[in-house]
Amino acid sequence: MLNDIKEVLYSEEQIQAKIQELGETIAKEYEGKNPLVICVLKGAFIFMADLVKRVNIPLEMDFMAVSSYGQSTKSSGVVKIIKDLDVTVEHRDVLIVEDIIDSGLTLSYLIDILKRRNASSVKIVTLFDKPARRTVDLTPDYYGFELPDSFVVGYGLDYAEKYRNLPFIGVLKEEVYSG
Ligand code: PRP
Ligand code: MN
Ligand code: MG
Repeated sequence: MLNDIKEVLYSEEQIQAKIQELGETIAKEYEGKNPLVICVLKGAFIFMADLVKRVNIPLEMDFMAVSSYGQSTKSSGVVKIIKDLDVTVEHRDVLIVEDIIDSGLTLSYLIDILKRRNASSVKIVTLFDKPARRTVDLTPDYYGFELPDSFVVGYGLDYAEKYRNLPFIGVLKEEVYSG
């Protein structure tokens, strides 16, 4: 698995240090608000687990799984809910946790849904951001690292469902996905 990685972009230590900072910032922002923290499966599950351990205030968690209808439809922003939330978001301060924002379509769709369900507020934290790839106007409220437009895997991010369990983020060797 490690042989498939061309270059490590951010190490496990760098990622964990950044998550500590993000957690402290978010804890200050949401103190006394009992936020509903929503993990977007699958990619965000590792970041979610590490982040909530650093947000030392009362909060609740829920999980959502979404999928695009394949490449062509993804560009039209059509996203399918595979697993919906268990709880209602009405009058809740919602924080969406993502691993990465690429085009921004997944999140703009989710934000739209949650606002229509009358959440009091909807904010976004993403560990990684690829602003160069954005096709919709969307800026995260909190983010960890900006990434170049390269094929990255690890720390929740997959290629064909693999590599999510790498504790760092790295660039995948071209031969892995072109061959
Ligand atoms: C990836 C990633 C984000 C989304 C970002 O998820 O985890 O959720 O794509 O892309 P966008 O900004 O262009 O919408 P993916 O659809 O691969 O599902 P996964 O999390 O299960 O891997
Ligand atoms: Mn995802
Ligand atoms: Mg994926």
